Amino acid sequence: MNKKPNLAVVGATGVVGTTFLKVLEEEDFPFDNLYIMASARSAGKTVTFKGKDYIVEELNEHSFDKPIDIALFSAGGSVSAKYAPIAAAHGVTVVDNSSQWRMDPDVPLVVPEVNPEAIKNRKKGIIANPNCSTIQAMLPLKALHDKYKIKRVVYSTYQAVSGSGMKGIQDLKNGLAGHDTNLAYPHPIAGNCLPHIDVFEDNGYTKEEMKMINETHKILGDDSIKVTATTVRVPVFGAHSESINVEFYNDFDLDELRQTLADFPGVIVQDDPANNVYPLAREAEGTNEVYVGRIRRDFSVDYGINMWVVADNIRKGAATNTVQIAEELIKE
Ligand code: A2P
Repeated sequence: MNKKPNLAVVGATGVVGTTFLKVLEEEDFPFDNLYIMASARSAGKTVTFKGKDYIVEELNEHSFDKPIDIALFSAGGSVSAKYAPIAAAHGVTVVDNSSQWRMDPDVPLVVPEVNPEAIKNRKKGIIANPNCSTIQAMLPLKALHDKYKIKRVVYSTYQAVSGSGMKGIQDLKNGLAGHDTNLAYPHPIAGNCLPHIDVFEDNGYTKEEMKMINETHKILGDDSIKVTATTVRVPVFGAHSESINVEFYNDFDLDELRQTLADFPGVIVQDDPANNVYPLAREAEGTNEVYVGRIRRDFSVDYGINMWVVADNIRKGAATNTVQIAEELIKE
């Protein structure tokens, strides 16, 4: 791209949308014009970006009639289903944070540190941002798959309420204040762990669990990896934690494996249990990196490890990853 792009942010008033704006500002992302879009509920409100006020526009069929190069979407699956193709038909490259387009074979599913080359294959003009819990797992798993070849992965997640948007955050705030509400969940979240993220499918898994399984295959480009998952919502505001058990085809030296993780872009190893050092959700919140610790041999198999992986689900799990994809686009 030769000139500075015209940008649109769709869903700009939501949890991820407001973080898109923060990350774009922090990254000093180059742009010419910026359009801020949300639902009729927010139309006319003012959003400040880099010291300038922008009026929120209601998203509609004509929103992309004006010249826009890149649109970052985070307004839910049904909005992406309808409006991403309309935007793409106007020549806009859409980077979509919903699950709507992720498994479409003509839509790249991208974590820039892992599979940036996939971006070129955007036959529909849409690039999908993976599920938050998948993104943070991909960085360490890509590093390890390239070196030791992964046979099987078992994910167990401990996911923050910010992943459910404003309603999830409100439910936890209300519950901590002693007034449980069920705006986002079927049960109170304060003082609870809910083994239920997104809807249940016929096979007994939740849609979140199936996203982790299917997206892992697509991003690592290897359907032969056996993957299973249990995803759990926990009373944490701002970062997802994951226990990841990995079995390899090849043997490894644990120190070398730890170094392999530390050398991977975007990964920070925090692994000093003797000094109580391991990744923590409260420390990861507000940062763009993926933290890995508790790295230890799984003695129940020939070649395997357990590790604890933490990242801010709204940043690396959503907004930061989306902005990184947009940064790849402007490099083209
Ligand atoms: P609005 O604030 O006007 O409702 P979250 O899930 O974090 O609460 O955010 C959802 C985001 O998606 C918000 O910016 C919301 O706008 C936006 N949104 C929801 N429905 C629509 C819609 N039909 N058209 C455009 N934006 C929408």
